[in-house]
Amino acid sequence: MKILVTGGAGYIASHTNVELLNAGYEVVVLDNLCNSSEESIRRVEKLTGKKITFYKIDMIDKEAMDAMFKKEKPDAVIHFAGLKAVGESCEYPLMYFNNNLIGTLNLLSVMDKYAVRKLVFSSSATVYGFQTKMPINEEASLSATNPYGRTKLMIEDMLRDIYKADNSWDIAILRYFNPIGAHISGEIGEDPKGIPNNLVPYIAKVAIGELEKVHVFGNDYNTPDGTGVRDYIHVVDLALGHIKAIEKLNENPGLVTYNLGTGQGYSVLELIKSYEKACGKTIPYVIDARRPGDCDMVYSDPSKAKAELGWEATRGVEQMCEDSWRWQSKNPNGYRGC
Ligand code: NAD
Ligand code: UFG
Repeated sequence: MKILVTGGAGYIASHTNVELLNAGYEVVVLDNLCNSSEESIRRVEKLTGKKITFYKIDMIDKEAMDAMFKKEKPDAVIHFAGLKAVGESCEYPLMYFNNNLIGTLNLLSVMDKYAVRKLVFSSSATVYGFQTKMPINEEASLSATNPYGRTKLMIEDMLRDIYKADNSWDIAILRYFNPIGAHISGEIGEDPKGIPNNLVPYIAKVAIGELEKVHVFGNDYNTPDGTGVRDYIHVVDLALGHIKAIEKLNENPGLVTYNLGTGQGYSVLELIKSYEKACGKTIPYVIDARRPGDCDMVYSDPSKAKAELGWEATRGVEQMCEDSWRWQSKNPNGYRGC
C-alpha cells in the first residue's frame, strides 16, 4: 500500500515514516521544507534501509500536486503539512489561513479528483479550546482560541462536511496532545528553527548550553505544584497511532475521530526534573509570568483509541526525556550542517 505523507520531512512525520516503512508500506513524501530539512528523509532511509520518494512541493501549488498524484497514485494520505506555531499565527493569521486552509483545500480537491479518499489528518488538542473538565474525551465541545487552532477546527469541519456529502471517504481525525521525545536511535528528532516555543525543545536547548535557563510560565495555576500540566506523549507512540489509523481506514469506517494522548498529566517542574535525570545536569529555571492563552491543565481520555484502534501509549515521561536528550546531544545543531 502506497501512502502519501504531506509534511513528511517534519518532526512527527519523520517518526511516522520509520514505522510505515518498517510495517511494509511504500512512502511518498511531499514537503516544501519551510520548517524541515531533507536530511530527516535521508536519516529515515538509513534507519529503515528503505527508500522514500520525495517531492519538494508546496501545497499551495495545486498543479504540482496534481501532477504528483497522477504519477504516484497513492492509496491513502497522511496529512501532516501545516504551520503550527500559536504565537506566530496570532501575528500572521493570513499566512496561517493561506498555508493551512488553502493548502488543505488543494490537497482534498486533488485527492477527490484522483479518487484517493482515505485520509488521516493531524489535528490537535487545541480544538478543545478551554475545558474545565478533565480528562477530555472526543465528545467535548470544540472551539478555537487562536488562528492556528482555528485552522485545525476549520479543517475538521471541512472534513465532516465532505464526508456528509460523500460517504465514500474514509477519514481519521487524530487529535494529538503534546508530542515530545525522539526515535531511540537519536538519528531523528525535533529540530525547531530559532528559539523554541514549546517546553521540551526549550529545556533541551538549556541542557545543551545553547540557552541560559528555562522560563517557567507561571507557578500560580490550580495544579499540584502551581505549574501548567499537560499530557506529553512520546512521538514514537504517536507515530504508531498513525499505523493503527491506516489499518482502521482499510476497514472503511467512515469518519472517525480519536484523541492520541497518554491520559496522564505532568507539570512543567516535573518535566524539568525528569530531563535533569535524563541528561545528568542541573537545568536552571526562573518563574516568569503566565503566558497569555495558557490553561492550567490539559490531559486526554485516550480510551476510544484503545477500544477502536487497539492503540495505547506505552512510553513514559522518563523515556521521552532520555530519547529527547539522546537526539539533542548527538545533534546539537539539529539537521543543520548535514
Ligand atoms: P513540523 O513543522 O515539523 O512538520 C510540518 C511539515 O509541514 C514541515 O516539514 C513543513 O516544512 C511542512 N509544510 C508546512 N507547510 C507546507 C506547505 N504549504 N506545503 C508543503 N509542506 C508544508 O511539525 P510537526 O510537529 O511534525 O507537526 C505535524 C502536524 O501535526 C502539523 O499539522 C501540526 O499542526 C500537528 N500537530 C503538532 C503538534 C505538536 O506539538 N508538534 C501538536 C498537535 C498537532
Ligand atoms: N511552558 C513554560 N515555558 C516554556 C514553554 C512552555 O513554562 O518556555 C509551559 C506552558 O506554559 C505549558 C507547558 O509548558 O504549561 C507546555 O507548553 P507547550 O508550549 O510545550 O505546549 P502547549 O500545551 O502550550 O501547546 C502545544 C502546541 C499546541 C497544541 C497543544 C496540544 O503548541 O499547538 O500542544 O496539542 F495545540
